[in-house]
Amino acid sequence: MISKSTIDQVYETARLEEVIGDFVLLKKSGSSFKGLSPFSDERTPSFMVSPVKQIWKDFSSGKGGNVVAFLMEHEHFTYPEAIKYLAKKYNIEVEETEQSNEQREQANERESMYLVSEYAQKYFAEILWESELGKAIGLSYFKERGFTDETIKKFGLGYSLDQWEIFSNTAIEKGYKLEYLQKTGLTIVKEREGFTAKQFDRFKGRVMFPIHSMSGRVLGFGGRILTNDKKAAKYLNSPESDIYHKSKVLYGINFAKQAIAKEDNCYLVEGYTDVIQFYQRGIHNVVASSGTALTPDQIRLVNRLTKNITVLFDGDAAGLRASLRGIDLILEQGMNVKVCTFPEGEDPDSFAKNNDFEEVVLYLQENSKDFIQFKTSLLVNDSNNDPIKKAETVRDIVNSISKIPDQIKREIYIQECAKLMSVSEEVLFNTLAQISKKQVFDASKRVKQEQKAFEVVKNQKTVEKVNVQYVLERKIIEMLLLYGNQEQEFEDLILKENDEGDLVLEPENSEVKVYEKIYLDLQEDEIEFTHIQFKNTYYKLIEELNEKEDFSVNTFISKLDQEIASEISSILMEDEKYELHNWESKNIYPKEKQKAVSQLVSETILTLRCFLIKRRIEKLTDGTEGKMDDNSEILEEIMNYLQLNKLLNKKLNRVLS
Ligand code: CTP
Ligand code: MN
Repeated sequence: MISKSTIDQVYETARLEEVIGDFVLLKKSGSSFKGLSPFSDERTPSFMVSPVKQIWKDFSSGKGGNVVAFLMEHEHFTYPEAIKYLAKKYNIEVEETEQSNEQREQANERESMYLVSEYAQKYFAEILWESELGKAIGLSYFKERGFTDETIKKFGLGYSLDQWEIFSNTAIEKGYKLEYLQKTGLTIVKEREGFTAKQFDRFKGRVMFPIHSMSGRVLGFGGRILTNDKKAAKYLNSPESDIYHKSKVLYGINFAKQAIAKEDNCYLVEGYTDVIQFYQRGIHNVVASSGTALTPDQIRLVNRLTKNITVLFDGDAAGLRASLRGIDLILEQGMNVKVCTFPEGEDPDSFAKNNDFEEVVLYLQENSKDFIQFKTSLLVNDSNNDPIKKAETVRDIVNSISKIPDQIKREIYIQECAKLMSVSEEVLFNTLAQISKKQVFDASKRVKQEQKAFEVVKNQKTVEKVNVQYVLERKIIEMLLLYGNQEQEFEDLILKENDEGDLVLEPENSEVKVYEKIYLDLQEDEIEFTHIQFKNTYYKLIEELNEKEDFSVNTFISKLDQEIASEISSILMEDEKYELHNWESKNIYPKEKQKAVSQLVSETILTLRCFLIKRRIEKLTDGTEGKMDDNSEILEEIMNYLQLNKLLNKKLNRVLS
């Protein structure tokens, strides 16, 4: 358990915008920051960070919360992990009490998978550095490849002994469960009928490359074989699992992220060793897709850090054409792509190994081509004036250009392509128009489908809007969050006898805290919230406001479930939402916010009371239908409610006027 004082200190010190800034490219926008949602694929930013409120809201996915919620959501940290991460970032010493066995068991399944992966990484590294076989086989292999001690340690490389189950057995002895060893793919369990199940180490006899998440957690491994066995795969990788999604991971991103942002460019290579060799040579902004075809999710990881990618290809042209698809995907995300190939027989790994820093940098500078130049040069190489091939290539290039979202850029590229291919711009623009038309057609089909889905969402939204009670309950929560502790003057109407002996309503003023007013008024009518998330939050809020003079929304949110925290963040981010949708320019102002607090509070409570009474009356009236004889009691109740309703409406009119 982390001590409370550590947690408090972390919350006091951590700056949300700095923490999120490590993962998302944020731009200042008014008093907030805006960025592309890290949780969905989008081109216009709908991810907002408020440095003042220290909360974030992602309007595209609906998620939101404080700094810890972000880390839990984005990095899949547990709560203590998020606190520890922040403590490390801000150099705060973590006071901790020992974790009990019970607590370890309680850690959820994914957490267990992370833990077992982390253990495996440490184990394989220890074998590499400490055991005789590890040193003789694994370490000497890496040394032979030119990796320094420092590099091997930095990347956490290791060795898995050439024995059937030594790793699995050691891990189990240490208390790690077979279940998680199996789920992470570190251990393979073979069951055969009539025999006891056999377990063995997946990576037996391989050197190990741990694969990390953006924040540096071990997700899985790549293991390279050391023999020349043609039948066995050169690399064996961890299987897909709950913690390792190949399509969302880029090898090296945790080491490269800062350099990528700083250099405003990312080198994309194919293999583990390419990344490591580049890094060792001093070029740190490099990541690998690890042999698989590049995916949109992987590109998005980079897109948040820079708009520029340089794809580095091995010297052998094999597989080059297949990789071209990746370029279109990058263009589609509005990024700039350059391509650099290496001399015949060389790959980034060998090139960086055999040349010094300046030479590599110079080579990259001189040989990085824009994707058009690159595609054109491909044509020169493989079609030798074959007109049909040339036509195909032109179409291919224009097709890539059509993926670029920015129109000006598209035009410039068309001009460039016309020059390079000696084709008239007109023809190219026509081709572009043709392709675009088809794309528009396809897109419109998609949009129609999306619209249908949207319609459903919209309908749900209108239902919500019509759901007066939902809106009012939410509003009450909002008022408690924003003004709960404020002392306000409230006017109440009290029934009094006047000089003539008639009952009249007379105003009486009192000075109370907003939360007290709300609580007492609702209690008076025994009003209970109907939306469970609001109900729980309401009681928690009242309790907290009652106990603490220095109520802080931020500390409050940190204690809530993600779902509720998210709802609350969206309540609090309402201002930003207006800003986001640019409603002001459309002359739509959220009126309520400009009213005085006490008026707003009274109005909301009264509206809710009126609403509930009306519903109650409706229910009672329904109940009397069909049985006319004995309903005098019910009728009397209805009359009472009608009177109360009248009174409340009077009060409400007073508040509103
Ligand atoms: N790869 C893989 N499985 C294979 C072969 C390759 O997963 N059977 C992936 C690995 O991530 C590898 C990358 O594809 O790093 C590039 O493959 P390749 O160029 O063949 O490997 P190198 O990185 O050049 O490896 P080495 O230099 O060790 O031969
Ligand atoms: Mn290689």
